[in-house]
Amino acid sequence: MIRRNKRQRTQRRIIVVIILLLFSTGFLFYPVLNKRIEAKRVDPIPSSLEQIEADIREIQLPSADTEIYLDLVNKTHPLPADYVPSDLTEVAAVAPGVTCTQLRTPAAEAFAQLLNAAAFDGYTLVLRSGYRSYETQQKLFDGYVKKDGQNAAEQYSAPPGCSEHQMGLAVDVTSPSVNYKLKRNFGSTAEGSWLAENAHRFGFIIRYLDGKQDITGYIYEPWHIRYVGIQPATEIYRQNITLEEYLAQQP
Ligand code: DAL
Ligand code: ZN
Repeated sequence: MIRRNKRQRTQRRIIVVIILLLFSTGFLFYPVLNKRIEAKRVDPIPSSLEQIEADIREIQLPSADTEIYLDLVNKTHPLPADYVPSDLTEVAAVAPGVTCTQLRTPAAEAFAQLLNAAAFDGYTLVLRSGYRSYETQQKLFDGYVKKDGQNAAEQYSAPPGCSEHQMGLAVDVTSPSVNYKLKRNFGSTAEGSWLAENAHRFGFIIRYLDGKQDITGYIYEPWHIRYVGIQPATEIYRQNITLEEYLAQQP
């Protein structure tokens, strides 16, 4: 009887020691284990620039991108002569010596992001022409008519009131690789191809596509991009259509 009590006491002591040991090791290893758990909780590092940009857009662009930037301006849909956008802002990255360096704020912000993404991929793009007043467009157009005649000028230059540049939502884009010129061959340079393939990710479209002059009224301009917002731009890019065709599809 006494012997059994003794054995039971010994067993109890062993159990208590084991429990104490388990507790103390738990406390000892808690910081290490906790750190591992914390490390697992940290969000994964974005794997690519696209992911980073998507995150930036999610944070910065909703107000701009939920607004509609789909107004149609062309030879049959002119703007009033006195239309001046109220939110014009300076663009920083511009070609040397140019004067029309403003865009509407949402377009300017999206354009800055586009330029950053191009630079990340190794391409230098800059603005050659942004917002142009009715009067500026008038002077430009009159100069082209003098040089090439009315018919020819109308193929590549908008009559005053009919230019998207007056909206503050269009940018003529160029690069040092073409000596900051606006030439058809820009479309086949690495910079022009990058622009054609990526502009939609920032809400821009190549507005005057090759072979669509009967719809747009203008010859191919690989440098002229128009801000419409990311969702419409992506759809227009996916279908390879003009703004006129896209708007005709809308209910
Ligand atoms: N070059 C385009 C059509 C414009 O003048 O707006
Ligand atoms: Zn243009």
